[in-house]
Amino acid sequence: MQLETDAIDRSHYPKHIAIIMDGNGRWAKKRFLPRFMGHIAGVKAVKRVVEFCDSQEIQVLTLFAFSSENWHRPKDEVSKLMDLFVGTLGKEINRLDKKNVRLRFIGERSAFSEKMQQQMAESECRTENNTGLTLVIAANYGGHRDITLAMQEIAKQVQRGDLQPEDINEDLIAAQLSIPDLPEPDLFIRTGGEKRVSNFLLWQLAYTEFHFTDKFWPDFNTETMQGAVDDFLTRQRRFGRTSEQLENSSETN
Ligand code: FPP
Repeated sequence: MQLETDAIDRSHYPKHIAIIMDGNGRWAKKRFLPRFMGHIAGVKAVKRVVEFCDSQEIQVLTLFAFSSENWHRPKDEVSKLMDLFVGTLGKEINRLDKKNVRLRFIGERSAFSEKMQQQMAESECRTENNTGLTLVIAANYGGHRDITLAMQEIAKQVQRGDLQPEDINEDLIAAQLSIPDLPEPDLFIRTGGEKRVSNFLLWQLAYTEFHFTDKFWPDFNTETMQGAVDDFLTRQRRFGRTSEQLENSSETN
């Protein structure tokens, strides 16, 4: 069995997978359950997908757990979601650490409770030297805000005279965004049937391959993840070049 796993050529595998986990509420509704039960089932799907990425040696998994727009949901749902995040993090941190997972959070933290902010900081600190899967949780994250903050920082550098406007380039902007040190997502997955990006990692998704599925997030498992990766493996990533150019360059490599 081990031999089979070792034999898989992972050279074309996605290094970074980013996911919008959608459809928890509809999953619950279909079963005549309260919406919140969908989020609880969603946590189980998170565990399965983390397990998958770990076993497939994916370097980075970024999950959109809570968008800056999600605050508009009913108060009761927001508060239960917060409790679920705190509870899940508290329960899972030991296991994640043992699995050599490095945990990071992106998004505006100040809106979360003190307890949650503390838990986030502690779990990041505790796992910062781990070398396995990097699990990035986007919480109160918005792509527009990410870019806006980067622009503010660059404007300050120009104002101080540390930077000339003509020196601003794509690398410099990218360096000011969240997770600048991680590879940009190769594969973006959105479950739940919607086909939009919803203000997630706007800059970083420029060359990402998209995989949309009607499956609700709580139904996501190893098989559906493998299906998304297999779909990715069928794509030819040209980064603006022609197929012929790519074929010629692979012949000379
Ligand atoms: C979208 O489903 C899901 C969310 C807004 C919350 C995602 C949270 C989890 C999966 C729980 C745990 C996550 C972590 C990282 C511990 P929806 O409510 O929008 O579903 P709907 O579109 O069917 O209403």
